[in-house]
Parts: sequence; structure tokens; C-alpha cells
Amino acid sequence: MTSMTLLTLPAAVEAAIVAALPDAPDDRRTIGLRVERWWPDLRSALEAIYPGRADELGARLVGLAATAYGVRPEDLRDLDQRRLLEPDWLQRPEMVGYACYAERFAGDLSAVAGKADYLAELGVRYLHLMPLLLPRDGDNDGGYAVADYRTIRPDLGTTDDLRNLTSSLQAQGISVVLDLVLNHVAKEHEWARRAQAGEQRYLDYFRIFPDRTEPDAFEATLPEVFPDFAPGNFTWDHDVRGWVWTTFNEWQWDVDWANPEVLVEYADIICFLANLGVEVLRLDAIAFTWKRLGTNCQNQPEVHELTQVLRAVARIACPATVFKAEAIVGPRDLVPYLGTGRHVGRVSDLAYHNSLMVQAWSMLATGDARLAKQALGALPESPPGGTWITYLRCHDDIGWAIDDGDAADAGVNGFEHRRYLADWFAGDFPGSWGRGLVFQFNPETGDKRTSGTAASLVGLDPTIAGAPAREEGLARLFLAHALVYGWGGLPVIWSGDELAMPDDPAWAAEPGHEEDNRWAHRPRLDWTLAATRDDLTTIAGKVFSSLAHLARVRAALPELHASAVAHVIPGVDDGVLAVVKRHPSGPLIGLYNVTDGWRPFPSEHFTAAGMTAPVNALGGHMVTWGADGQVWLGPYAAWWVVDRPANDT
Ligand code: GLC
Repeated sequence: MTSMTLLTLPAAVEAAIVAALPDAPDDRRTIGLRVERWWPDLRSALEAIYPGRADELGARLVGLAATAYGVRPEDLRDLDQRRLLEPDWLQRPEMVGYACYAERFAGDLSAVAGKADYLAELGVRYLHLMPLLLPRDGDNDGGYAVADYRTIRPDLGTTDDLRNLTSSLQAQGISVVLDLVLNHVAKEHEWARRAQAGEQRYLDYFRIFPDRTEPDAFEATLPEVFPDFAPGNFTWDHDVRGWVWTTFNEWQWDVDWANPEVLVEYADIICFLANLGVEVLRLDAIAFTWKRLGTNCQNQPEVHELTQVLRAVARIACPATVFKAEAIVGPRDLVPYLGTGRHVGRVSDLAYHNSLMVQAWSMLATGDARLAKQALGALPESPPGGTWITYLRCHDDIGWAIDDGDAADAGVNGFEHRRYLADWFAGDFPGSWGRGLVFQFNPETGDKRTSGTAASLVGLDPTIAGAPAREEGLARLFLAHALVYGWGGLPVIWSGDELAMPDDPAWAAEPGHEEDNRWAHRPRLDWTLAATRDDLTTIAGKVFSSLAHLARVRAALPELHASAVAHVIPGVDDGVLAVVKRHPSGPLIGLYNVTDGWRPFPSEHFTAAGMTAPVNALGGHMVTWGADGQVWLGPYAAWWVVDRPANDT
């Protein structure tokens, strides 16, 4: 294929490239080089999931990747080059993200482009627009029931509008992130409709059972995602005369990834979205994509093989496009989504740090960092190229993913602690300042989850009167955001949290939302409030400016590069979470006092980290201590300490 071929590719793969790009020798060369590089990833993962079919399927996938490259716009080809030249672009400290529903944030896609200045004030470089591909009519789980992956919601715009938006944002240094719902399609999607019409090819895209025997066997070990409004995991469908696997809602049909035709379809959709300028694909509900009897059908090893295949395809067709795993799973299952074992560097670059989010809230509720130290300290190390999405809130509820083992090691009962947190943040616990809501209480398991904006959960709710309560709420919010921005991943703000917007009291008024109180924390952005963001006497102004400050300080600290893993410092006061990051540019110690009192931190840790002139970069002051050798941290203090000797340039 190239003059210096390093690897012999199967003839079918070579032929697929020629067939896809018959008149473009330069493109064939480029694709040939990329296939040489990524074929081992593609082939080995295909062989693991579809034994005996790797070469044939691999050739098809290379063919579709080459075809997509053939029509890839010139500016995106340039972007591919830029990203290849700067492979750590997601890990750099200047990266800050923002997530919103386009219509709730701005109106439609062209209106989103008009808000770039607002985003720039917050330092945003990554914009996650919630599902905007055509969903089913009526309730559609916030767009996660996709009826057509190749059409944009007409109220938001067209594919041309999306293309214009991605290129205008790219020109301003903002990358667009979109969801790719992998586990299911709406039952109105063409694949499901053709299955309902009896076409065998499409019946094979789903998991359909003629009677309850297999569903019951699976149910024995399957949890329920929405026990309130969608109990069970299977739905009887009259047209296909069978029980359809529906993990989420009855109108979201799980696709069958054991059928390689499904994989080929999604590979093609990935290339299509990438060619519209989407730079990050959020792999929605990826944990659920592989089913295995006798398990909870989440986090199965095949999930990582599938991701590896799709990633290799993207690397061949559109290397600027990367993956973010949406796996909101227990701490032990989390790291493999960033790549462990033979999947290191071969799956997603980004994954949600669900455990950090849960522990941030747990620390605020209890004023105790012991469980967080245990849980975060026990998390296996993430690979150097993998980056955590760090966040305090997102569009979903908070599931209290606290591992029973971690809880026991920290001296608490996991079940009771989870229950306590749900009660605390719903304001159902004596003395609680939380003003969130209970989401999906499951009386059978006792499981309760939590909805609420960051402001509501920290107690910055308009119903809480009084300046002292407000100041404490603000301090808690700043502390939690400082942790999220200082961990060293890619921090993402959920829309409205930058203005401390409270829960939307009218959340249930919109048709289709009545039963799903996650809409309480998905408010329409209040642009009147946003107009006050420079007024530092207001809560909105204080919170907005504090986030902009965190982003500015962060961007100037090479120590916060995401490749440096955060390690919990043991043996520190129970009310203080202390974290050290050792990046070649220098160490950084993050100090977070989660209590409302003064707490000590032994100065010897600065010396141990090799610091000679510790400076708190967030407060802009030297760090000093007295004869007791302790640095005293005020209530809810958050410090990012770096070494800045005077002669340092
Ligand atoms: C993801 C989304 C969530 C949705 C679910 C089903 O978890 O974040 O909002 O309900 O997938 O698609």
C-alpha cells in the first residue's frame, strides 16, 4: 500500500481501500498508513467478539472508514492533523467544558453559536450539546430515544446548521461534543420499524424472546434503571410477538451488539457525525451494551472490545474524533473504560469520574473526608492518556455509587450511608441544608437517588433565608468546584450551575416530563440572571466569577495537566482531603477542608513533595506555618499549592 509497508494487510483490506478511494491515490496513501497503524487494534478486538470473522468484518469497516475519509471536509482533515500533532489536547489545563441542552441554553443551533462569548468568559473549550438527533415524538428520555441518527431535531436546525456551528465554534477554540446512544434506539427508529414489519435482518438487531423463559432468567440478576416509571427490563411487543429487551424505557429498544451488523451500522454513524465536525462522541449507556446471563449485564469485557473496534475505525477515518465513555458505574468498574490491560490507549480518552462526584457530595454532607480518602485512594490508577471528566452535577440524577467495601474500610455502613446521602440532599434529614429531590426510590432495594442543581444541593436555594446560610452555601459550592477543577481531569459545568440557578419549580409542567424529576435540574438558562454576572454582590455574580477564576488559574498551571494522576495524601486530618499530583513541570498539592471549622495540614508534606516555596495559586499567597509546623486551613478552604521559588521562571 505504501512504499514502506510495515505490516502485511489481508488482501481484502487492501481491496476495500482501493474500492473506496479509486481516484484518490493521496487519500489511499493516508488511509493505508493509518490502517497499518491501527489494524492490529481493529483485528484483535473483532476476533475477540466475533471469532473467525475478523478479516472479513475488518475489511468492511476499513472500507467504510476510507469512504468517510474520502468525503471528509478539508478543514476537518486539517483538524485531524492538528490533533495528531497535539495528542494531549484534552488533557491540557486550559480545557474546561460546559454541557447544556441547545434549546434550554440558547434556543436553536444558530443561537448557540451566538453564545460563544459567554462560554469564553468561563474559559470553555468543550461544549457538550445534549441529544439533538431526531428523537421519537412524545416522551423521549431527554432525547436519548433516537429515531434517526442522521437527522437533526427540526426545531434546532439541520445537519448544515450543525456543520456551521461546529466550524464556527472550532474557529473560536471550542470543540463540540455529542451523544451517541449505543445501547438502544427508539422503537420508532427504522431498524425497529422494519423488525416490527417482520424483516429478519432487523429482527436480528434486537434481543427478542418468544416467552418469559429467558427474560425471567436474566431478570434474576438484572437491576432496574427506572424502577418508578419503567419497571423490569423487557417489554412485550405485539408486532414482533415477543419480549423485547428494554433496559431503560419500554420505547427504548436495546440493540444486539452480538450481531456484527449492528456494529457496522454504528461505525458508519460515527463517521457521519465526525464529518459534521463533532469532535467528542459521548458513548451513552455504554456499560449496558453487552448482555451475559447470570450477571447484571453491565461492564462486560466485550464492551471494551467493541469500543476498541469503533475507536480504531474513528482513528482511521477521522482521528480528530475521540470518545468519552458514559459509564456511571461503581468505582471498581470505572477505570477499564479509560483502558486497562491490553486496552490501554485503545478505547475512550475520557470517562466520567463518577466516584469523585459522589465523594464530593458525601464530604460536604458529613464534613468528613475519611470515606473519600478511602474510595479515591483505592481507585486503580488511570492510564496516562486517559482523562477524567470531573463534574459536580450533570443532567442526570446522582446515584450514590459508594462501594460497600470502601464504606466498611472507612468504618461506615454502605447501605445506610447511601440512604443518608439521599435523605440529606432531599432535605429529609434533621439539620440538612440540601434542597434536592428523591429520584427513583426503589422500595425493594431501598435504593434512592437524587435530583437537584448544584445550588439546590449545597443549600443555595431561595427558600433558605439569611446571609450566614448563603455564605456557607457559597463556600461549599466554591470548595466543591475547586476540587472538580483541581483534580486534573477535564472539568465540565452543567448549564445553569455557573449562575447558581436553583431547581426549576415548574419542572413537571412540560408534557412528558411529569414523572421525571431530573427536569428540575435542567432549567432553561435565565439570561436576565446571566446579565447580572458581573455584579459581585449577587450570588449569580459570585459563582460565575469564581468559576471564571478557577478556569483562569487552572489554565496557567502546567502542574494540572491531566496525565499526572492525583494521589490522596494519607495521615491528614479527617476533615481535610489532601491530594498530590506529580507532573514533570512540578508538584501540586490540593487541599480541601470540608468542614466549617479550622483544620490543620502538616507542612512536612510540602517538603516531601519537593517544594521549597509553596504558594497557594488559588488565593495568590505564600503558604506559611508556625512553630507547630501546621498550616491552618479556614472553614471550607480550597487551596492549590504549587512550588514557586523566586528564581523560577
Ligand atoms: C444515559 C443518559 C441518561 C439516559 C440514559 C438512557 O445514562 O445520561 O440521561 O436516561 O443514558 O439513554
